[in-house]
Amino acid sequence: MGATSIHLPRRLALIIYVVSLLSTQFLTGHGELQLNYYYESCPNAEEIIKQEVQKLYDKHGNTAVSWIRNLFHDCMVNPCDASILLVNAIGIESEQKSRRSFGMRNFKYIGTIKKALEKECPSTVSCADIIALSARDGIVLLGGPRIEMKTGRRDARASYAGVVDDFIPDRNDSMSLVLARFQSIGIDVEGTVGLLGAHSVGRVHCINLVDRLYPTVDPTLDPDYAEYLKRRCPEPEPDLNAVEYARFDQETPMALDNMYYKNLLAHKGLLQVDQELASDPTTYPFVEKMASDNGYFQEQFARALLLLSENNPLTGADSEIRKDCRYVNAD
Ligand code: HEM
Ligand SMILES: *[C@@H]1O[C@H](CO)[C@@H](O)[C@H](O)[C@H]1NC(C)=O
Repeated sequence: MGATSIHLPRRLALIIYVVSLLSTQFLTGHGELQLNYYYESCPNAEEIIKQEVQKLYDKHGNTAVSWIRNLFHDCMVNPCDASILLVNAIGIESEQKSRRSFGMRNFKYIGTIKKALEKECPSTVSCADIIALSARDGIVLLGGPRIEMKTGRRDARASYAGVVDDFIPDRNDSMSLVLARFQSIGIDVEGTVGLLGAHSVGRVHCINLVDRLYPTVDPTLDPDYAEYLKRRCPEPEPDLNAVEYARFDQETPMALDNMYYKNLLAHKGLLQVDQELASDPTTYPFVEKMASDNGYFQEQFARALLLLSENNPLTGADSEIRKDCRYVNAD
């Protein structure tokens, strides 16, 4: 708890935060993002980000995976404002500390990208745009679609871990809740099914799996696959600090492809929410279609990710271009 929140009760602080977001939206409206926003102020910005993302990928392939999850967590907890990158400080409750953010990694390499940009054009390129463009470039490196993205996002000067749960669904939430959350930011059922294809790369820690394995195995899980997962996660109550995990997709773990949907049809969805896509009658037809058509999956993924990346960008007052993505600028 920082000094500011000692004086203001938490709820009041939240209300002020939300009202300030709303008034920013009201004053500046949508549509301030544009293609190649840094064309004059930092002509090489997009190229620098692309090169850094490539270099990081060559050294640590999983950075590309992290950039995709960053975009989800930053833009779903609207607006896209790099609030996810802030670390605990006075008045800042880092969203990274929320239970929903568990397992997020590679934040330090955002600093690598930011440093390269600061060297070329100091205080010009926002951390929120780094989140968006690194995700875009990471997606291509993982074999996903190339997505034209606008830029011009600005960085938040506050963050509240407490609001994360209101936006990011839990792994065991109902499909209707999940669909409603995405619907609220303009992403339809088809787009939501496509977006969850992000879970064709990366990993899940045992803490997020064990309630499907113990005390009894979730009947929607393929029995052989459940045995495999129990070997990966032998403890019914895993230690939070243990690096025990399973990959979302054993066959093509580093490819953003439609294997995810094939796995769902084979009852090998890792999270409860993944498997629900195949059992819910609203989403099932899209799962089937994406499983049989990688091009269709990529199209829907690209469409929905673009909508996510443009979710209420913070563009006006009470925003800034951070110098260090972990901290708000000193006044
Ligand atoms: C209903 C919505 C979603 C839920 C409940 C959810 C939940 C989760 C959970 C529990 C993990 C595993 C964390 C861990 O144990 O380490 C995870 C990983 C991941 N999620 Fe999601 N997620 C959702 C939607 C999305 C979306 C829309 C994207 C991106 C477009 C995304 C991208 C990722 C990625 C890339 C990983 C792997 C991270 C890594 O390996 O470092 N997720 N998600
Ligand atoms: C999901 O799991 C958590 C424990 O991690 C539990 O507290 C919560 O009630 C569960 N939610 C639903 C909808 O079952």
